[in-house]
Amino acid sequence: MRRHGEIFSDQLVTQYLPRGPFKADEALGIARRVIEHFITHWEDHGFGVWAVVEKTSGDLIGQCGLNTLAEAPETEVLYLLDRPYWGRGLATEAARSAVDIGFQAVGLHRIVGLTMPDNVASQRVLTKAGLRYERDATFFGVNVRYFAINRPSQNPNHDG
Ligand SMILES: CC(C)(COP(=O)(O)OP(=O)(O)OC[C@H]1O[C@@H](n2cnc3c(N)ncnc32)[C@H](O)[C@@H]1OP(=O)(O)O)[C@@H](O)C(=O)NCCC(=O)NCCS
Repeated sequence: MRRHGEIFSDQLVTQYLPRGPFKADEALGIARRVIEHFITHWEDHGFGVWAVVEKTSGDLIGQCGLNTLAEAPETEVLYLLDRPYWGRGLATEAARSAVDIGFQAVGLHRIVGLTMPDNVASQRVLTKAGLRYERDATFFGVNVRYFAINRPSQNPNHDG
């Protein structure tokens, strides 16, 4: 199992993150600031980003959850897995859970997803989690593909 800072030292993992890929000597500091941000977000909003843990081993394998954007009054779903765990459907499973919790437990009305144009795997995860591509946009000073999903409407006449 790699620690969070070691996962952030892998340039294939961080190549599509804002300011990525991270240099070896900056990755640990960035990982610390990211975790501090996640903790503050939980304290301020009551929801946020979780550690993703493999059920069988209990190992930390990444992060996934909901993050309030600094640049807009919107909440994004985000996810990152350590490389050995790619390609097993785990990011899709985690992102779907985060979206469900965002709508059902947190009560959000809309969740967005931002990916670099070349990050095709991430765009597949967003699509499979129910988000749709809306437009190209600029966030964090970089060009991104902007995906979104609105909270499913409640039908008061629905029997089930
Ligand atoms: C993006 C990431 C989370 C995907 O995790 P994952 O667990 O491998 O994703 P899943 O297995 O749930 O699904 C990935 C989908 O992308 C597809 N995919 C994977 N790599 C791909 C590639 N290089 N090109 C095109 N599609 C790709 C898979 O085939 C799958 O789609 P499918 O089910 O239609 O076949 C993972 O690669 C990662 O952590 N990357 C680094 C961090 C990152 O970029 N996070 C997102 C920032 S916006």
